[in-house]
Amino acid sequence: MALVLLAAGLDTTANMLALGAFALLRSPEQLAALRSDPSLTDRAVEELLRYLSVGKTFMRTALEDVELGGHLIEAGSPLILSYNTANRDPDRFADPHVLDLHRQESRHVAFGHGIHQCLGQQLARVEMRVAFPALVNRFPTLRLAVPDEEIALRAEISDIHGVKSLPVAWDG
Ligand code: HEM
Repeated sequence: MALVLLAAGLDTTANMLALGAFALLRSPEQLAALRSDPSLTDRAVEELLRYLSVGKTFMRTALEDVELGGHLIEAGSPLILSYNTANRDPDRFADPHVLDLHRQESRHVAFGHGIHQCLGQQLARVEMRVAFPALVNRFPTLRLAVPDEEIALRAEISDIHGVKSLPVAWDG
């Protein structure tokens, strides 16, 4: 149980913070909005969770026949489901590929859904609600130290989406 909590609780939040910082640094107007309006923090955290979906996928087995989008999924079928795709569903989210910290619709599935929904989600939210405003306010000139296309993503080496490293600079 301790190992599960450590793995599920550390890799996810650490990558969410680094990838979230990357997303904000790539969207200066969104970063400025977060810096200038503290009341935006909770909404911004939900939007970053939706937009980044660091958990990526989860596996399930169908317990009964289910019809979904015109396809029959037979009982016993193994399934790989994508949080990313659900969180970019254009029927739910307008302009789903856009990071919009003012977005009103916040019903994402970045923490899963149903009985296995993330046990640590409130802790994760608290961490991000503290860390993102602290970062952008403590370092007003924070910027990427390399062009953003040079930031390597760790998508291919981990189940959790993230950056391998995030070189940044700021004025002293
Ligand atoms: C931004 C941070 C986090 C994200 C995006 C995240 C995401 C998720 C997702 C998507 C699931 C569902 C997996 C599934 O459906 O099979 C999950 C489950 C879980 N999470 Fe998190 N998580 C985060 C932080 C945490 C933290 C901080 C903890 C613990 C302190 C934690 C502990 C767990 C545990 C124990 C489960 C398994 C629950 C179960 O199977 O009943 N997570 N998480």
